[in-house]
Formats: sequence, structure tokens, C-alpha cells
Amino acid sequence: MGKKVTVVGAGFYGSTTAQRLAEYDIFDTVVLTDIVEGKPEGLALDLNQSRPVEGFETKVVGATTGPNGEGYEAIEGSDVVIITAGLPRKPGMSRMDLLGVNAKIVRQVSENVAKYAPNAVVIVVSNPLDEMTALAQIATQFPKNRVLGQAGMLDTARFTHFVAETLSVKIGDVQTLTLGSHGDTMVPVPSRCTVNGKPLAELLPADKIEELVTRTRNGGAEVVALLKTGSAYYAPSAAAARMAKAVAEDSGAVMPVCAWVDGEYGISGVYLGVEAEIGAEGVRRVVETKLTDSELAGLKEAAEAVRAKQADVADL
Ligand SMILES: NC(=O)c1ccc[n+]([C@@H]2O[C@H](COP(=O)([O-])OP(=O)(O)OC[C@H]3O[C@@H](n4cnc5c(N)ncnc54)[C@H](O)[C@@H]3O)[C@@H](O)[C@H]2O)c1
Repeated sequence: MGKKVTVVGAGFYGSTTAQRLAEYDIFDTVVLTDIVEGKPEGLALDLNQSRPVEGFETKVVGATTGPNGEGYEAIEGSDVVIITAGLPRKPGMSRMDLLGVNAKIVRQVSENVAKYAPNAVVIVVSNPLDEMTALAQIATQFPKNRVLGQAGMLDTARFTHFVAETLSVKIGDVQTLTLGSHGDTMVPVPSRCTVNGKPLAELLPADKIEELVTRTRNGGAEVVALLKTGSAYYAPSAAAARMAKAVAEDSGAVMPVCAWVDGEYGISGVYLGVEAEIGAEGVRRVVETKLTDSELAGLKEAAEAVRAKQADVADL
């Protein structure tokens, strides 16, 4: 049987993710759901009509869902579920300002996912990301490796873009990495940044690297401030779709994701941005990379910051 992937939430993030997944042409079915009646069905119809032009066979199914799980039959048998349901930021808001309202949404969605797609790998993108990932695991009661969040791929992609742009080099020549939280305690890892294999520190002065690190940390807010009515979705959807592809293909790709950390880096019992090997079971293992003392200190600081917040989500 072919693979089935569901995207919950047919807003900007969800609809662009569904499009990317369909255009990969590796799934039998992409299901798109939302609580706004007709929106997922309309987008699915539109996406299906692009099939002859783009030349993919994957079918897109749209389903409106209700507060008591109505319509969730559509997600049955999903191998992967991406949760994008929830409010995005407005200018001036931090991701944490979304905690209360998105926790209600993510809990309700997660309970229905557990009921209708009990074997799925869940990829969370709703913000605040680290907390919503922890909440989805609590609400689904899935094994921790089967619930992960998308943040590091996006933050790393932003860092890479800024480095490539600054040095006027090809995107493909640049390697960067960010770990930690999807927020103030994001940990860009300059020691793992290279351009054509050369350390970034040999190509740019420290203050310029610091400037790019700061811009990366504020990468989401920069887009929000320009759009004024929502947050980024092209780069975010690219990241989530690649994670779902790695699960569907059981590829073993190593990606920066929000994963359950249990002893790695001397950190335990928290969802945190780390590199992980992704396969059919979700996170196969967390991959530790060599960090400088200050980068490791930053990661530990991020772990403690999100640990405190994640402890509270069980009650939301
Ligand atoms: N992790 C990341 O890197 C990252 C990046 C960008 C955005 N985000 C987050 O992703 C989320 C979605 O962003 P967006 O731009 O698509 O917002 P959006 O407002 O365009 O779409 C959100 C959609 O969720 C739907 N929804 C609300 N409650 C629902 C429920 N119970 N079940 C199903 N659908 C429901 C809404 O009707 C809406 O269509 C936000 O929380 C945003 O902050 C995360």
C-alpha cells in the first residue's frame, strides 16, 4: 500500500505543505483538514487540478473537521500527520504569546489524531513550537520518538540563506546549523558552519557572524513584520515536508528537529532542537555533534528555558 500523509490546518503553512508533499509524488494520498467548512475541500480540488500540469499522481483529499472529531475518519491509516493548526503571530507578538490559544487547538487535534491515526508519526509545527510538541506527545500518549517538531530545519535554512547572501556564494556551498529552542534561546552553531568546507570564522569577522546569528534568531519576526497579517510559510513548509518525506521513505536522513532528548549532551527529559536521524518510526536516534564550550552552554540554557515551559503545558 502507498503512503498516506495528513496535514491538519489548511492555512498558509498547511496548504503550502500539502502542495509540496503532493508534488513530491511519493504518497498515495495527501489529506488536508481544517475547521473552516469547505476550505480544505476547495484547496484539495484546486491542488488536484494542478496534477496534469505538474504531472503527479498523488491524490489530495480535503476534509472539514468538527470540535468533537467529526470528519477525522479522513485521516485514518495516515503514516505521518503534520499539525499546523493554530494562530500565527502578528507583528510585535512573540511565539509564546500564542501559548494559551494554540494549546487548546493542539490538544484537541492531538487527541483526535491518537484516535484516528494511532500509528502515525506526528510532526508539530504550531507555535510556540517546543511547547506544542511536548503537548502533542502528552495528548497523543504516543512514544516520544513518534512525536517531533519542526524548527531547526527552518532556522538552519535561514542561517544558510543569510551566509550565502552575505558572501555571494551558492546556497549549495554553505552548511550551517542551529540547535536549541525555536525562540530566544535558539543556538546557532558557528563552529559547524562552512562554505565549501572552509570554516565560516575564516571568511567573516566575528561581529559579522554575530550579526547573521542575530538575524537568524529574529528570522521569523522579520517576515512577520513585513507581512503584517501572518507569518512565514514557504521556508517553513519546505522544512516540514522534507521531514515527512524522510519518515515516509524511512531514509535515515539527519536533520535538526525538535526531538525528545534523553541523556544526549548531558541533557535529559525535554523536547529540544537537536540533530536526529529520521526514519519510519520518527526519531531513530538523536545525533550528538561536537560543540564548543559556549555552544554547549547555550544548548543547556535553552534546555532549561524550554523545560520550565514544557512542564506547564500538561495543564493547558
Ligand atoms: N515551527 C515553525 O517553524 C513555524 C513557522 C511558521 C509558522 N508556524 C506556526 O504554524 C501555525 C500555522 O501558521 P499559518 O501561517 O498556517 O496560520 P493560518 O492562520 O494561515 O492557518 C491556521 C489554520 O489552522 C486552522 N485551525 C484552527 N483550529 C483548528 C483545529 N482545531 N483543527 C484544524 N484546523 C484548525 C485555521 O482555521 C487556519 O486555517 C501557527 O501557529 C504559526 O505560528 C510555525
